[in-house]
Amino acid sequence: MAYTVPKLTDYSAAALTQAAEECTLSCREEEAAIRNDDELKTFRDRWLGRKNGILTQINEVWLKGAPKEAKREAGIRVNELKARIQELVEGAKVAGSASFHSSDIESVDITLPGARRPIGSEHPVAKTTRELVAVFQKLGYSVADGPVVETDYYNFEALNFPPNHPARDTQDTLFIAGQQSKPARERLLLRTHTSPVQIRTMEKMRPPIRIVIPGTVHRNDPPDASHSPMFHQIEGLAVDTNITFGDLKGTLDHAMKEFFGSSVKTSFRPSFFPFTEPSAEMYVSCFICGGSGRRGSDPCRPCKQSGWIEILGCGMVDPNVFEFVKDNGYDPKKVSGFAFGMGADRIALLKYGVDDIQLFFQGDVRFLEQWG
Ligand code: DAH
Repeated sequence: MAYTVPKLTDYSAAALTQAAEECTLSCREEEAAIRNDDELKTFRDRWLGRKNGILTQINEVWLKGAPKEAKREAGIRVNELKARIQELVEGAKVAGSASFHSSDIESVDITLPGARRPIGSEHPVAKTTRELVAVFQKLGYSVADGPVVETDYYNFEALNFPPNHPARDTQDTLFIAGQQSKPARERLLLRTHTSPVQIRTMEKMRPPIRIVIPGTVHRNDPPDASHSPMFHQIEGLAVDTNITFGDLKGTLDHAMKEFFGSSVKTSFRPSFFPFTEPSAEMYVSCFICGGSGRRGSDPCRPCKQSGWIEILGCGMVDPNVFEFVKDNGYDPKKVSGFAFGMGADRIALLKYGVDDIQLFFQGDVRFLEQWG
């Protein structure tokens, strides 16, 4: 006969003890009769179910029906009973099963592969930057950095771009709004290149210096397969006595061989930058087609069939630039130097054969996983 919660009329200690014992006994009997997992579940719901389980009913019927003076004692007894029943029901098992239970086996399938925790991988632009920086560190260069929000003075003026100079137009600049009340050189903008850190470093450190500067830059370029309004550069600067264009060529040629492989050649072609004189663009022989301009019977696209790929801008530091930091030991009559700047994203695109720069910045895990 299934247990039902009886109404109590007698709230004496003896009567409460008896009612609790009957309840416990019934619970034990029902437990012993459980034959399978379904019945176990029904049993648990019947006794512990929140809405209409037996423990809930006992609470209702026994406590609410208790006369005032018996309420306290009845409350203590009911709590004891609930703890006992709860322990019993939670520990209940299908009758006849030993401590080793079929449902225990199902919950741990040792034949399944373990849960794998995905490991992140280095972003191709970060990897390229790190490797290039390491090449220069091995030559004794230190790493410097500077702010992304820069003043007009450091981004342009101290790099020998005078106000209104047409060379400024080559770097479509994103200006910070609301700066009109400030003097022109203090107005803020997003740096268009890492070159301002050349000046910042020379203000802080006396010559000789050899530094590389990796960093984020911005230009007002609409995004397409080869442009992004945010991209990355690596800048370099070496200043000492008697630094020559030969040092520039030797250093950069070595760096390219280290990075792309010893078979690449370099070529320097005249160019213009306001902060270097003379200036050059450096090309490396195409490491995709080996300089032939062809891939089998197809034209080589990355080098546009020329066999050469433009990698960076460089040159000898313009004496006008040294004038801005002359007081810190950079007298253009006494020191000379070379500088260079390259696009880390562009180099990563070429090195990894990626045809759209946007893929670097969309954060699609399926793309990024390929470098794991
Ligand atoms: N800052 C230049 C640019 O973003 C690149 C560059 C050219 C950097 C020549 C240099 C340099 O340091 O010497 O276009």
